[in-house]
Amino acid sequence: MSVIETRNLRKHYRRIEALKGVSLRVERGEIYGLLGQNGAGKSTLVKILLSIVRRTSGEATMLGEPVGTTRARQRVGYLPEDHQFPGYHSAESLLHFYGRLYGMSRHDRNRRIPEMLELVGLRGRASTKIRTYSKGMKQRLGLAQAMFHDPELIILDEPTDGVDPVGRREIRTIMQRLKEQGKTIFLNSHLLSEVELICDRVGILQRGEMIREGDIATLTRQKGLFIVGLAEGETLPTDELVRTGLSVSRSGIFWEVALSDGQTIDVVVDWIRSRGLRLRHLVEKRQSLEDLFVATVDAAEPGIDLPRSARQPRVMVGGAGQ
Ligand SMILES: Nc1ncnc2c1ncn2[C@@H]1O[C@H](COP(=O)(O)OP(=O)(O)O)[C@@H](O)[C@H]1O
Ligand SMILES: [Mg+2]
Repeated sequence: MSVIETRNLRKHYRRIEALKGVSLRVERGEIYGLLGQNGAGKSTLVKILLSIVRRTSGEATMLGEPVGTTRARQRVGYLPEDHQFPGYHSAESLLHFYGRLYGMSRHDRNRRIPEMLELVGLRGRASTKIRTYSKGMKQRLGLAQAMFHDPELIILDEPTDGVDPVGRREIRTIMQRLKEQGKTIFLNSHLLSEVELICDRVGILQRGEMIREGDIATLTRQKGLFIVGLAEGETLPTDELVRTGLSVSRSGIFWEVALSDGQTIDVVVDWIRSRGLRLRHLVEKRQSLEDLFVATVDAAEPGIDLPRSARQPRVMVGGAGQ
């Protein structure tokens, strides 16, 4: 059973169609990233799951319950985007406050607070006022709040927005630890390079439509494109290889080899060895999620507001592998 499932989910805010039939699934124990530019509909989708806004049509279930029931919501932790905790609270008093809302006893709260603050690296700042915290510390406290009642599913809306690189790294580490504890994490983000490092699967939402979905390794693979390196001082005779139907080009100290349909990289390996050359480096080339995102968004909507440089198609060796 999926932890989150939506089928043909639609949402209209009067004239604005925020979601135009979105279907997705999130499985237990995975980190799922819903990506897209501002206004794509990410927060709307999350708010429907949490019954903060009502769907126009379609279906959505969370932890096996239809959305809108309180049963499932009790087992979910949520970090809203742009949340503001009152500055007069400390980390400790804030978690006591939320713990009371969750109906936890003083004893449970006293046990849980140091544990959570340890996890998010705020133990030393437990009794300082939130108004003195950096953005990264506030986001980490937000994570502690979302996890406080030990939910099975944690929904994070833009958890790394406005946080500096060190803070983002810390947030990623926390998410990784939660995953190791078997939690399912659903996060919204418009910061692609961040997400790439942590998500098992992503969906790309654009103007209310899911335009790509899959695991990151599959989405970023450039089919049939390899980087080859030889022992120092050796050169790959590209002309000869090209005659066998491959596309080859030099790229710094390496060569990029593009296979044509039906070829496997074994042909190249065998060929290199038969010439007495020594293979020292062989990897399948990947594009970054950011490249994929730009390419996908561009394909879906030519001429969208991106700098010209970002709009150029990625140059692929010999045009193969696309
Ligand atoms: N309460 C609302 N009333 C009217 N329009 C809204 C409301 N909330 C969001 N929208 C619109 O719905 C679209 C999707 O917004 P949102 O879900 O916040 O996107 P994202 O989280 O991806 O930035 C946007 O065009 C936004 O302006
Ligand atoms: Mg949003």
